[in-house]
Formats: sequence, structure tokens, C-alpha cells
Amino acid sequence: MENLDQLVQDAVSAFANASDGAQLEQAKAGFLGKSGSLTERLKGLGKLPADERKQVGAEINRAKTAIETALEARREALREAHLFEQLAAEALDVTLPGRGLHQGGLHPVSRTLERIEALFRSVGFIVADGPEIETDWHNFTALNTPENHPARSMHDTFYIEGRDDVLLRTHTSPVQIRSMLAHVERHASEGTMPDIRLIAPGRVYRVDSDATHSPMFHQIEGLWVGEDVSFADLKGVIADFLRKFFESDDLQVRFRPSFFPFTEPSAEIDVAFMGGALKGRWLEIAGCGLVHPNVMRFGGVDPERYSGFAFGMGLDRLTMLRYGINDLRLFFEGDLRFLSQFR
Ligand code: FA5
Ligand code: MG
Repeated sequence: MENLDQLVQDAVSAFANASDGAQLEQAKAGFLGKSGSLTERLKGLGKLPADERKQVGAEINRAKTAIETALEARREALREAHLFEQLAAEALDVTLPGRGLHQGGLHPVSRTLERIEALFRSVGFIVADGPEIETDWHNFTALNTPENHPARSMHDTFYIEGRDDVLLRTHTSPVQIRSMLAHVERHASEGTMPDIRLIAPGRVYRVDSDATHSPMFHQIEGLWVGEDVSFADLKGVIADFLRKFFESDDLQVRFRPSFFPFTEPSAEIDVAFMGGALKGRWLEIAGCGLVHPNVMRFGGVDPERYSGFAFGMGLDRLTMLRYGINDLRLFFEGDLRFLSQFR
């Protein structure tokens, strides 16, 4: 029967035209469904004379098998195409260059701080700290800087709106007061007290900004209070520290007489190098002096019995000198081209 062959061909091309499973099932119904064209032929068998029925029936069955085979083949082809599509969508291009893991590192100011802490610990200093939002009393009054004292205006303080009792600390010196009070209390029952020997690093804030001044910067306070602590001890500790810190003989240090309300006498410590990027330029790295008797009293320490020295170093300035950096602002910009040089 030639129109059976035509029917099979029609089915094959209808299946080939189906581009997804749903379309294919729809095409299948047109041939093999309840009223599909092949099903109609089978239904018509009964009307044929008995002698033709067997032969025609066999031919229809052959056509049915051919259509079913074509259907299954097309189903398989569509499944495979779908799988390839999925795989292509999820493909990883293993030939792309890797993103890589970048190694981080400590900020140069942190490295400098760790080094300074290690050096002072090695000569018996402990590391203390205090709050960055400080009371006006600890930051000024107890440091012999009463209200309306002209020295308060030297500090360009950041105040907090609506509060006149707290501020952003302008230096680490209030830790002197906090530490003396705590130390005295700790040893109150003993009749005598061991030496206070500490450094106190941390952030401080001032309305100040140029190549060597930043509105947020770091200081390291130093304090040694005991029975016979003198200015000679101060000079010895500082000179020893600077030699170890810079590992350099190429260095000049000077103690320049100065004024701080909380020390008497007072000095500023300047450093200059004979060579390198900062050659010949004096840079002030610290203020220092013998702790003023009024400050001792505010800290609960008897100035008739004890004496002490204190210093406040600029940590960022020390870092600039150590690494030959000429602009302080580089430390706070977060530029990886700068920072990665210290890894
Ligand atoms: C003080 O802050 C005193 N508290 C230091 C002190 C402590 C004196 C104990 C006596 C006894 P001064 O304002 O000079 O002093 O600051 C100390 C150091 O901080 C300076 O020598 C400088 O190295 C650094 N420094 C000051 N202002 C800035 C700033 N804006 N940016 C970066 N570093 C600064
Ligand atoms: Mg100064």
C-alpha cells in the first residue's frame, strides 16, 4: 500500500519538525492517537473482506512499528540535544587564567607598632590602653591643663555635639592618669608600690591635615614612675630605643627644650637622617619630660616620694622615617600599590 509508505514518511518528517518534547507528543497524536491517521486505518480493517484483512493488517502493523521507531529515535535525539544545551550553559572554561590568591600583609604602621612593643617589652614595659572617646577631665584637666588654659587651643580638639564632658582624645597622655589611678588602687594596701613602666599605643584625633599631619594619627605614650626616676633615665631609654628601632648609625637625635603643661622640664625629640629620602630634614617624633607634680597628684601618686618621666611619640612619623616615606597621608588612603610594598 503506497499511501502507508507516504504516511510513514509524513510521520518521520512531522517528528523531525518537532523541536521539543511537547511538540513531538503532539505530532505523535496525529498518527498514533485515538483518532490519529494510522489508528483510523486500523479501525477500517474490519470493513475489508476477510481474505485481504490479514495482509493489510500486517502492512499497517509494519507501518506502525516504523512510526514508533522513528518516534523513539526522535525522542532520544531531543533528550540528547537538551542535555548538550544544559552542559554548554554550565560549562567551565578550564583554559581561562586563574583569579589567584593575593597574599595580604600588615599595614606598615601596624608593623612598626609591633616592633616598638617588642622593643619596650624587652626592657620591662607593659602595654596599656585607654578609650578613644575620652573625658575632658582625663584629656586635659588631670593633665594640668585646666579649662581656659591656652594649651587647650594648641590641640584643635574634635568635640562631640551636645556634650562638653567628652571629646575625641587629642593624645595618648590621658592613659597616664588612668594607669596611675589603677596602679595606686591595686597596691593601696601594700604601703609601697612597684614602678609603673608602660607604653600605651593608640589612635588620637586633631583638626589637622597636611603631608606630616593627619586628623587621625597614632601615638605611643610612655610612662615610668618610681622612686628615683630622672631625666637621665628618660634620655637613656629614648636613645637606646631609637638605636634599636632604626638599626642605624646614620641618625641624629636632639632634645629641644619645649613646653607641655603636664611635664616639667619638657622637651621635644627630633630626628634627622644623614642620607636617604628624608636626608637632612628634622622631623619631630615625640614630646617628653618629667611628669609634673600636679599630674602625679591627679593620678593619686605622691610627688614627694615618687618621680617619673613620660613621652608621647608619633607612631606614623616613626614609620615614615623607618621606611623613607615623605607623605603621611599615604598611610590612610588604602592604595594597594603603596601598601603591597610592605608585604
Ligand atoms: C603631645 O601630644 C603630648 N601628649 C606628648 C607628650 C607626652 C609630652 C608625654 C610629654 C609627655 P605633641 O602634640 O607634640 O605632644 O604630639 C606628639 C607627637 O605626635 C609629635 O611629636 C608628632 O610626632 C606626632 N603628631 C602630632 N600631631 C600630629 C599629626 N597631626 N599627625 C601625625 N603626627 C602628629
Ligand atoms: Mg609637638
